[in-house]
Amino acid sequence: MSYPSMADADGRTLGAEEIEAVTRALRTGMLSSVWGTEVRALEREMAALHAVPHAVACSSGTAALHLAVAAVAPEPGDEIITSPISDIGTVAPILAQNAVPVFADVDPYTGNLDPDAVAAAIGPRTRAILGVHLFGAAATGLRAVADAAGLPLIEDCAQAWLTRYPDDRLAGTVGTIGCFSLQQWKHITCGDGGLVVTGDATLARRMRLFADKGWPRDGGTRRYVSLGLNYRMTELAGAVARAQLAKLPGVLAARRRTARRLVAALADLPGVHLPADPDRHAWWLFPIVLDPPLDNADVAARLAAEGVPARAGYLDEPLHCAPVLTEAPCYGTSRYPLSTPPADRVPEYGWGTRPNAERLVTQTLLVIQWNERYTDEHVDRIAAAVRRAVTR
Ligand SMILES: Cc1ncc(COP(=O)(O)O)c(C=O)c1O
Repeated sequence: MSYPSMADADGRTLGAEEIEAVTRALRTGMLSSVWGTEVRALEREMAALHAVPHAVACSSGTAALHLAVAAVAPEPGDEIITSPISDIGTVAPILAQNAVPVFADVDPYTGNLDPDAVAAAIGPRTRAILGVHLFGAAATGLRAVADAAGLPLIEDCAQAWLTRYPDDRLAGTVGTIGCFSLQQWKHITCGDGGLVVTGDATLARRMRLFADKGWPRDGGTRRYVSLGLNYRMTELAGAVARAQLAKLPGVLAARRRTARRLVAALADLPGVHLPADPDRHAWWLFPIVLDPPLDNADVAARLAAEGVPARAGYLDEPLHCAPVLTEAPCYGTSRYPLSTPPADRVPEYGWGTRPNAERLVTQTLLVIQWNERYTDEHVDRIAAAVRRAVTR
């Protein structure tokens, strides 16, 4: 039996609506969002969906995070606390703004930042907290830590479309800025794309300028008022993203329904930890955390042998152990900004420094690909395969 995948047409929701949208955009002859209407409409629809005043579209999730980091304006050498379990798109924008990523350890079961570890990592140069809603589970407790320290909270919602906090607020609306990705493997896609949401008009303006070369484009002027890049989304991408955004509630409903079925089917298995709160989880992937002596690589191999799309650990190594942080130069041959923090704040990277994250990646975390097109039969086969793999 084959499993629908986000890499294939049968595992995506790209259909007549997206074809119509792209054709509509093409027919106007205007493919740039500076003068077109699709991307501006997408921003309004995204803001409305999240009940926030501002949304800004851009070219990727990494770009969205770069807009957010640039907007909170770290001084060179300032620190931003983030998670060691994420895509590098969470961290690269910190380095690109000449700030230093500080990794706090994660909860051993959710893989989300541990608020106590974040609080302990706050120092005199901390400029922001960048939390990741890993696999679509809300990273809770960070707003309180950020507020207590007077810091902005950036939420990385790339994997967390329509994730809800326990009090039902949407991920992306609890922090200062929420960042989303429309890359191929996300809940909805336009190939590559990003969106930020915020309630803060000043930050929204900074982000819009940063995405468009620092060019306000008001009153026909050609003045560049701040440092910016070209991170604009095209009208073609924007038109597709609008059609996809309209399908988002259906995508989430389908993923939650089948994920609940798998949670129920595996609930009695000893040594297996499943996400809590399936109705608020976005189920980008279905994560399972195993108790020793179960081993993630071993269980993933058994599942793969049965054709189940599963992978051990999610990453090859947690981000604080990735060569880009432990050894590679950032600019030219220089490791700046990692090479020049004050001596008492040298960033601590490498194995042995974030044990919960390291254990998840190397021993306990298993992720199963998830998809809105899974049927009950897909779920029942996965459940049976997991049961065999962990009870042999
Ligand atoms: C948690 C997380 N953050 C950031 C990114 C970066 O997004 P993008 O690939 O759209 O640049 C991704 C996905 O790739 C992600 O999963």
